[in-house]
Amino acid sequence: MNQLSFGKKSVISREKWRINREQLEKNKTKYKLKWTKNKYLSYIDVAIECFGLWLKLTGQYKRGIENAKEIQVKELELKFKNLPDAFNNYKILHLTDLHIDTIPGFEERIIKKIKNLNYDVCFWTGDYRKYTSGDYQQVKEPLKKIIENTHAPDGVFGLLGNHDTWQMVGDLEDIGIEMLINESIILEREKQEILITGTDDPHYFPSKYHEQALETEKALFKIALIHSPEMYEEAATNAYDLYLCGHTHAGQVCLPNGFAPLKNLKKGKQFLSGLWKYKSMIGYTSPGCGVSGLPVRFNTQGEVTLITLKKGV
Ligand SMILES: [Fe+2]
Repeated sequence: MNQLSFGKKSVISREKWRINREQLEKNKTKYKLKWTKNKYLSYIDVAIECFGLWLKLTGQYKRGIENAKEIQVKELELKFKNLPDAFNNYKILHLTDLHIDTIPGFEERIIKKIKNLNYDVCFWTGDYRKYTSGDYQQVKEPLKKIIENTHAPDGVFGLLGNHDTWQMVGDLEDIGIEMLINESIILEREKQEILITGTDDPHYFPSKYHEQALETEKALFKIALIHSPEMYEEAATNAYDLYLCGHTHAGQVCLPNGFAPLKNLKKGKQFLSGLWKYKSMIGYTSPGCGVSGLPVRFNTQGEVTLITLKKGV
């Protein structure tokens, strides 16, 4: 087992964050209930339902569900000239957007994909449940099963997405996920260090605390874990080397030419899916494991991502 040491660095107390997040969640729920005030969202919701009906009428719904179940292991090698030597060949398993209660038994498909993989650390970048509000108890057991089949010597670290509530944090920590709530940790190998920062979700719940969390010292090799790509500017400004995110599902339902009618991003739409670069920072927007809204995919594929860090140019 590799040596790991970390002292969690936080820019704000968990309690202060919780009070702020709770209020933002209440505002969001109120906003959603008064849906006539947000016509764009309402039209989208109605459009999704109509699209689902159309898929059923045309016999394509089942095909879409089968597509959503077919997740792959995507392997990536990423090169960084400033990667500490001790982290050359360091392997990250990145899981995101599990939405584990959308398709019954979906956890077994994820376990099948990850159980024989070798990696040093595992990052979960949010969105554990199907809906953006309501109960979440139903996701605990399937997530626990996945954790029991995750073998990461340096640990499993996670953060919240826009479908998640502050109330889940304790439960996620109880099943073995070290949550990063606008917090940073140091991973150490052979007296060399890299810094990992995880922020709260910036898509529904932006706050000044997210930006403050990214204001870390510039000398280290740094990885930002953020639910969506929407903080690419702040991360690059603070000299992050790698930005890992999800949220978009790569569009989830795309046209055959790859065009995504729904990008679900307020900014950074050019970073909808896959590898990207912004200034000197490399980013990867995973299409995610699961699906939300309708339990279907077309012309996109879900994945678990195995990333190998390499020293090089
Ligand atoms: Fe999301």
